[in-house]
Amino acid sequence: MTPTRGRDTARLLADFGHQLPTLPASAPPAREPRLFPSTPRRGPRRRGRGWSPAGAPVSVWRMTSDQAPVFWPLIAAPGLPPTGAQMGIDHLSGGSFYADPNGWVLDDAIPVTNPNIFAFGKPGRGKSGTVKAFCLRMMDFGYRTLILGDPKDEYEKLCHALGVQPFAIGHGLGARINPLAFGPLAQGWGDLPAAEAQRRAAIVFGRWLTLVRGLVGSQRLGDHRVPFGPTDEVVVKTALAHLTGYTAGNTQLTETTIPQLWRLLDQPSPELVAACRYATERQFLDETRLLRDALGQLVSGALAGLFDDHTTIQVDWTAPIQSLSLSRLEALGDEAIGIALTCLNSWGRGMRELAAPGDLRIVVRDESWKQLRLGPDAVKSFDADLRLSRRDGDIQFAVAHKPSDLLSAGDAGSQATAIAKDLLHLADIKILHGQDQAVGEELERLLGLGPIAQDLVTGWAMHGKGRALWCVGDRQYKVATILHPAEMALAYTNDALDAAR
Ligand SMILES: Nc1ncnc2c1ncn2[C@@H]1O[C@H](COP(=O)(O)OP(=O)(O)OP(=O)(O)O)[C@@H](O)[C@H]1O
Ligand SMILES: [Mg+2]
Repeated sequence: MTPTRGRDTARLLADFGHQLPTLPASAPPAREPRLFPSTPRRGPRRRGRGWSPAGAPVSVWRMTSDQAPVFWPLIAAPGLPPTGAQMGIDHLSGGSFYADPNGWVLDDAIPVTNPNIFAFGKPGRGKSGTVKAFCLRMMDFGYRTLILGDPKDEYEKLCHALGVQPFAIGHGLGARINPLAFGPLAQGWGDLPAAEAQRRAAIVFGRWLTLVRGLVGSQRLGDHRVPFGPTDEVVVKTALAHLTGYTAGNTQLTETTIPQLWRLLDQPSPELVAACRYATERQFLDETRLLRDALGQLVSGALAGLFDDHTTIQVDWTAPIQSLSLSRLEALGDEAIGIALTCLNSWGRGMRELAAPGDLRIVVRDESWKQLRLGPDAVKSFDADLRLSRRDGDIQFAVAHKPSDLLSAGDAGSQATAIAKDLLHLADIKILHGQDQAVGEELERLLGLGPIAQDLVTGWAMHGKGRALWCVGDRQYKVATILHPAEMALAYTNDALDAAR
């Protein structure tokens, strides 16, 4: 039996002549076409389409967006603008990687406050290749390059390709560099207002003192380095002021050299003895013996005839590149090359103290570990050269093997370690090429890289030349430098190995 149903309200009212209004029948909603064709969870069931008979178990995690990168670490750092040198491929984003240190400094969105670059990496990992590609590609943007010491003469090919003859430094060659040169700051000395002359004198004397401290401090006294204390500083500064005529208030300053400094300290004038507050000449000689002997080593030692006279080279600052080849010093050992680099660095800093506006330059200090091994004072000297050559427009590019190159200068925890760590922070841009596991741990400790970055440096970067982790401020980029075949020929450094085959 079917249940009887009553009339509904509309029908009832219709029976009595009232029509209720009705809604117009709406069209069924049209389905929008699918934007992406849907794929079944196990893939399309067709030949060659990778259909899986069993679904992969999916684990579900819930987390906040700041925790997600821990589980999903391959999220790339925010991209950098495509300005400056196109270096190669950014493997995290798959795009091109551009390096523009000065542009990064000027861009508030990028956490970089200075354009200095430190590159680290095991020998042969492509550090110098990246330096060469960077310098060459930045030339299109008006940058010139200064190679402050090329211990292997490996930049010569690049110089020749650009039509420049590098300066060769070695015994029996004409080129001399005076690290005690005034540089452009002494130009028109007599016409400078007193305050400006004092300011410039402070800069020049400061540079010389840092140099002499680095040179003296690089000498050994048994297991230790020769100390350079405040008294030595006063003596050297006073002697330099006497030699240049600064003490006498001369309108024209006289350039001096390291042998002249040594000679004055060895045969001090009564004025010098008095100015340094020694009672007698004998007391002066007794108390400066170590200083004099350390300086004397430089005058008569392995580097005699290289950095002990007035500069003979005429540097053309308008050339695209300038380089000072040092391979002839190789036989003298790493320490001698380190001392030569100390002299060149100081000289180069002096030369760059005053430059025309818009004179953009990349100052390369390749193999700088040789200098950094010379003890805390040499590290300090390097630190000062890098810190003080922060003239607008100059990009300092230093290359070493590993951060502990800086630390081997002193025991852990010592003043040298503190300076070395400080030095690392002086460059906001670090390029970390391939390293062994032990050095990877050191990088983690000193630079605070995370474990993922450490794995990249000890794994991925070791599997190809030119591969490196670029740390731009606190952002990290996984970059492979790509060399053009023509650049490859210029960056080739295995000639010696080829010859031995
Ligand atoms: N990006 C690159 N792609 C391919 N090959 C490269 C790259 N960079 C460098 N090379 C090659 O690798 C070799 C070693 O490179 P490079 O001299 O730059 O190493 P390095 O790290 O500076 O070594 P060292 O510490 O001994 O100075 C060179 O012969 C060069 O041709
Ligand atoms: Mg190299």
